[in-house]
Amino acid sequence: MRHALCLMLALLSLAVPVTRADTVVVTADRMVDVLAGRVVANPQITITDGRIVAVGSKGAAAPAGARHVDLPGMTLLPGLIDMHVHLTSDPRYGGYRGLEFTDGFWTVVGVANAKRTLEAGFTTVRNVGSGDYADVAIKQGIEEGFVPGPRIVPATYAIGATGGHCDATEFPPSISVPAPAVANGPEELRATVRKLRKYGAEVIKFCATGGVLSKTDTVGGQQYSLAEMTALVDEAHMLGLKVAVHAHGTSGIKDAIRAGVDTVEHASLADEEAFALAKQHGTYFSMDIYNDDYILAEGAKNGLFPESLDKEKQVGRRQRETFKAATAAGVRMIFGTDGGVYPNGNNARQFATMVAWGMTPMQAIRAATATASEALGRSGDVGAIAAGRYGDLIAVGGDPLADVTRLQTVEFVMKGGTVVKGPGLAAAGGDR
Ligand code: ARG
Repeated sequence: MRHALCLMLALLSLAVPVTRADTVVVTADRMVDVLAGRVVANPQITITDGRIVAVGSKGAAAPAGARHVDLPGMTLLPGLIDMHVHLTSDPRYGGYRGLEFTDGFWTVVGVANAKRTLEAGFTTVRNVGSGDYADVAIKQGIEEGFVPGPRIVPATYAIGATGGHCDATEFPPSISVPAPAVANGPEELRATVRKLRKYGAEVIKFCATGGVLSKTDTVGGQQYSLAEMTALVDEAHMLGLKVAVHAHGTSGIKDAIRAGVDTVEHASLADEEAFALAKQHGTYFSMDIYNDDYILAEGAKNGLFPESLDKEKQVGRRQRETFKAATAAGVRMIFGTDGGVYPNGNNARQFATMVAWGMTPMQAIRAATATASEALGRSGDVGAIAAGRYGDLIAVGGDPLADVTRLQTVEFVMKGGTVVKGPGLAAAGGDR
């Protein structure tokens, strides 16, 4: 009897695998606590199975068997969040140049850009418009471990009105181009939201006004009525999706806010009334104010349409003035760059522009971390170095609050507890 019991126990211990938690401890000289808005000396972060379990001070007890990554001279920050990218775009193919490539080419471009973006310190991005559901494919490839990249919140296609910024406006009537997300009227808009969600959209993006890079429209002209936008937003919210609106123009921005959108992209010509509406509705502004430098310097060489360059000249500087005024008015600001319109991977260049146009470095960093995670509805997961959130950490040399351009040279990147760049790559399981 005793022998039988022993045998049973022995068999049981064989059958139940011993699952040992995977723990890594990261220490550095400083840490930006984006929730408290201050810098903390000598932090020690403990990450178990991909999530942060403790935030303390260097020297605190660490679990037995934990691996250790020390980052002397460096400042830790939460992994950065870019709320507006197009991973499948490359600015060198402006105007008609993109027509030289086959459809799947853009997914390949997106795979390369996902790696660059992650290595630049952006561990989460919202991809607000791509063809072929390519952003969903890249997200799946990253999550299945085939290729490196950030966490992606995909919008799939950007929804647009016929002839509007998100339609293909550069072809004559005899060339018909598939337009899976061109929709007009409340019913078509509701149906399109349902379809995009079905195929993987986790946020809905639509175009409410004209834009810079499109043909045949003015940058500020409104392209959807309030009734259309209300139907779209209502449908998306019913399905649990947030809504991002492309809107440069004043009336389109205001109607989109009235319709209940969650984030306004570009927001270039927003006025004081728009700021008041945004504050009243809790709407975030995602303003891509670095872009103007790149477009004016490289756009002509990259083959952009001449009318796009003209439109950029109308709107670029005004957008920066609006950014300054919106920040001063207390609108909730998030970091969105429109990566793809300039080279993906250079996302962090926008921090310096934000500081030059009225933000403190801490405000700009919060826009790309804590505030962005709130706008995503994912503040339990990303956007801060805090217990319970993913082990998404970056580190830069020196003090980014004294010199925000430090964020352009990210030395260390960890995503979900796995080191993907910098010291600790081998020690902390970066090769897994
Ligand atoms: N995708 C945007 C558009 O075509 C880019 C705008 C870039 N210019 C700027 N000043 N932010 O409208």
